[in-house]
Parts: sequence; structure tokens; C-alpha cells
Amino acid sequence: MFKQILNFLKTFRHSSGYFKWLMSYTKPYVPSLSLMMILSLASSGITVLSAVITQQLIDNATVGISIRNNIILYIAIILIMQLMSALSSILTVIIFEKFSFGVRKQVFDKILRSCYHDVSNYHSGDLITRLTSDTSNVAEGISTVIPQIITLIFEFMLTFIVLLQYDSTLALLALLIAPVSAMASMWLSRKLKYLQIKVQESESNYRSFMQESISNILIIKSFCTETYSADRLEELRNERLQWIMKRNNVSVIASTTMSLGFQGGYILALSWGALRLSAKAITYGTLSVFLTLVNRIQAPVLGLSQTIPRIIKVLASAGRIIEIQNLPLETRLEQTVTPHNVGVQIEDLFFGYQNDDLLFDNASATIQPGEFVAIVGASGIGKTTLVRLMLSFMNQYVGNITFFNDLGEQVPTNANARSFMSYVPQGNTLFSGTIAYNLQMGKKDATEDEMWEALTAVSADGFVRDLPKGIHTRIGERGYGLSEGQAQRVSIARALIKKAPFLILDEATSSLDEKTELAVLDGIRHYSYQPTCLLITHRRSVLAYCDREIIIEDKKILETVIK
Ligand SMILES: Nc1ncnc2c1ncn2[C@@H]1O[C@H](COP(=O)(O)OP(=O)(O)OP(=O)(O)O)[C@@H](O)[C@H]1O
Ligand SMILES: [Mg+2]
Repeated sequence: MFKQILNFLKTFRHSSGYFKWLMSYTKPYVPSLSLMMILSLASSGITVLSAVITQQLIDNATVGISIRNNIILYIAIILIMQLMSALSSILTVIIFEKFSFGVRKQVFDKILRSCYHDVSNYHSGDLITRLTSDTSNVAEGISTVIPQIITLIFEFMLTFIVLLQYDSTLALLALLIAPVSAMASMWLSRKLKYLQIKVQESESNYRSFMQESISNILIIKSFCTETYSADRLEELRNERLQWIMKRNNVSVIASTTMSLGFQGGYILALSWGALRLSAKAITYGTLSVFLTLVNRIQAPVLGLSQTIPRIIKVLASAGRIIEIQNLPLETRLEQTVTPHNVGVQIEDLFFGYQNDDLLFDNASATIQPGEFVAIVGASGIGKTTLVRLMLSFMNQYVGNITFFNDLGEQVPTNANARSFMSYVPQGNTLFSGTIAYNLQMGKKDATEDEMWEALTAVSADGFVRDLPKGIHTRIGERGYGLSEGQAQRVSIARALIKKAPFLILDEATSSLDEKTELAVLDGIRHYSYQPTCLLITHRRSVLAYCDREIIIEDKKILETVIK
């Protein structure tokens, strides 16, 4: 038993951080929560009052006194109770919605502002589960579980005091239930927390699988793995079900044991009351109030024991959210470089995803403002990694990556430096929505003229004009509705419209035919502003178009001289 108490205290100490976190989030909702609590407390007070009125009603009836007033009072009380309960449920919904959105928005914001590398270690399905199911669990905790606990404690104390007025032996007997339930909760909480975390993890796996399958439906179909995928989903469902069942078994065992204990308590009270009645020590009315109150004192204790699994659920979800909240933010330095004619200097760069397996080992290179440079190298050598480092998507490197301009200003790469960079990543990265919406990602307030200018520069004006609604044509996720090469050109237009002085294209023209590719490169060169341009490519035709190339080889960056 001592070990169990110690364990519980340990869990609690660990959870107290979660409680603090929950409390800090709850602060803005204190006024509405207090109002809700007052309503609940008042309605439990009224419930106890109704028991007392019942006693008077029965006693009056027994001795032949008019019970009209008792009935009127009873009806009034019921009406008040209903009104309070309606108000309280309206408040619950409002608090739940506001709170869950508040937490969700903060976690969403945190995901967007944390280091890309850290966030990418989580499956997007897992992050979605944390953003939806976990935040709902926590919001439910704040809007219902915590107020419920406070109400139950109040109800317990109030009933106890009233019961004490009627029969102190019975009241003390009923109080014995409290330590029993506390012991049971200690035993339960650790086990339940572990099981609840498992339930949430299996929920994440389940959702991640569904999300990934839907976004890769083409692969599932072309490899004829529909049945395999459906079976896999069932496997994951079974895994989840298993954890849910285990968790439920523990809670059911606990609440059944308690419930049995309480039934015993009720029988005890009934027998005690019957004995007192036969000894003429109490009236029928007092017996009825006895039974009602014994029931009412047990209800909060039983209710409290049933809220334990819910508290654990809230804490487990809070832990999963806190994990995201604890991710370090990206470094943001003051923007000290005038965004005009920007170059980059890489000095003594050491980097590896795994420390002992370096991709760059003392690598250095300089790209001068206004240059049109190609980065080449074998597949998997580290070209994309190099631009990710420049864009500060990862920051666990050794060495210096410094942006500078021809005014002599300079700044180490950091998240804010992205404001003067434009990036076209490898692969299709268009959003669902109109082409105009996608271009506005590059420049929020871009005019239609600017959009057409960017589309023309990348030879996309022709096909966009032919679309049913031009730039207002809706496209699906990842550019569904456009050809790969068309989607690539829209992605480049999105980057160009930003008019950032440093443009990075990661195999952004790989799906274009040679003639269109050269037309696009020409368009970039003669666009209304001329960025420094870094192109990752495997194509000879592109190399020929560039001022020079830098080669990644043997963990070094080899620079060729300017042509
Ligand atoms: N997130 C990651 N964690 C661990 N290793 C990674 C990660 N991303 C890439 N790598 C590894 O780093 C190496 C370089 O990858 P990178 O994407 O930079 O290659 P690349 O030169 O752009 O290749 P490609 O021409 O095929 O696009 C690869 O061996 C790859 O397996
Ligand atoms: Mg690459």
C-alpha cells in the first residue's frame, strides 16, 4: 500500500506540471466558469432543499396538514433547477468551443513556428490527432470535468452537513466511503494514465494511416493494394480497440466495485433507518430524507470516482499537447540586410542528420549577388539539404551561413531571412484552391496584373488563360487538375511574385520540356526584378544557361570559376 501511495504521489507530482499548464490556459475563462459553477452549486443546494421539502410534505400529509404550499414550493424549485441546468449547458458549450479553439490555435501556431526539422519528425496524422482529439479532451476537461468535480465536492459536503443534523452515526458511516474511494483512485490513476496514452497513440496511428492512404490513393490503386490497405486499417482499429477495452476494463472494475460498496451502504442506511423507525425514534418523513440524503452523499463520491478516468484522459492529452508546446521556436534575428542584391557565404560547414554520418564536412562556398548558379551532384548527396540549411529549416549545424548584400550588410541565416528568399521545393507543393489563391501565398496583396506578369514570365499565361475561369480556376490538392509541368510553372510564378532578391529552385523545372524550360529560365532572368538565383538541377541544358555551377562531392562544395 505504501508503494502505491508513493507511486500515486509520483504520478501526481509529474501531473502537477500539467495542472499548472491547464490552469494557465483556464485563466481567461475564469468568469464564465465561475458563473457555471455558481449555477451548478446553486442547483445542488436546491436538490438538497427538495429532499427536506419532501420530508415536510410526507410528515404534513401523515398528520393531515395541508400540503398545498409544499407542492407549490416543490414545483417552483423544479422550475428553477431546470432553468439553471439549461443555462449551465449553454455555458458549457460556449466554454468548450472557445477553449478548444484557443488551445488549437496556439498549438497550430506553435507547429508553424517551430523548427521544421523537429515538426517533421512527427507524422502529420499524429499532429492532427493532437490538434483535434487531444485539444477536445482538454477542453472537455476544463468545461465539464473540473466544474463537475468542484460541484461534486460541494454537493458531498453540503449533504454531509445536512445529514449530520438528522443522524450523526449515519453521516459518519457515509463519510467512511471517502477514504475507500481515495485508495481506489490511487491504485487506478497510474495504470489508467498509461492506458490512456496508449489509446491516444493508437488513435494517432489509425488516423495517420487513413490520412496517408487517402492522400496516396493513386499508389494504392496502381499497386492494387485496396484490400491490403483495408485490412491494415482493420489491424490498426483492432489495436486501438484493444487499448480502449483495456482502459475501459480498469475503469469498469473500479466503478463496479465502488458501486457495490455504495449499494451496501444504502442497504445499511435502509436497515438503520427501519430500526429507528420501528423504535419510533424517527418519522416516515425523516426516513425518506435519510434515504434520499444517503443516496445523494454516495452519488458525488461515485461521481468523483467516475471522473478519475476522465481526469486521466485530460492529463494524458494535456501531456501530448505540452510536448508540442515545448518544441523550440525557430531562431529569428533582426532583419539587418536591405533586401536588394543578396548573396550568401557558406563557411566551414559541418552537418549530418545523424552526427556520425556527415553530409558536409568542412564545406565552403560563396554565391555573389545577382549570380545565376546551378548546384549539381549525385542523387542523395545533399543538394536539398544545403538549401534547407540556407533557409534555416534545420539549425543543428556547425559553421556559418551568412547572407550579405552589395551594401556590405550581413546577417546569419535565420527564420526571418526567409523574407528575402523565395523557394520552389522539389515536388508538387500547390494548395487546393484557385491559381490566384496559390499566387497570393507569394504576395498577399498581389494584383491581377502582377499575377499575369509572373505567369507570363514562366510561360504559364497561355494555359492559364485557356482554363475555364483563368486564374480563378480551382485546382485540387497538390495541383490536381494541372499537368505536372503546369503545376511546376505555377509554383515558380508563386515564388517570383514575391519579388525576393534570392531565389532557390530545387529541380523546379524537371517536368518541363527543354524548350519550355529555357523559356522559363529566360523569363526569370528578364523578370521585372532580377534575383540571385540558385538552381538545383541534373540537366545539362540548365547548366549551360547558368553563369556557373557548384558541385557537391565528397562532402565538400566545389566551385567552378565564373565563365
Ligand atoms: N530528414 C532526414 N533525416 C535523415 N536523413 C535524411 C533526411 N533527409 C534527407 N536525408 C538523407 O540525406 C541525404 C541527402 O539528402 P538530400 O535530399 O539533400 O539529397 P539530394 O542531393 O537533394 O538528392 P536528390 O537529387 O535525389 O534530390 C540522403 O542520403 C538522405 O537519405
Ligand atoms: Mg533533392
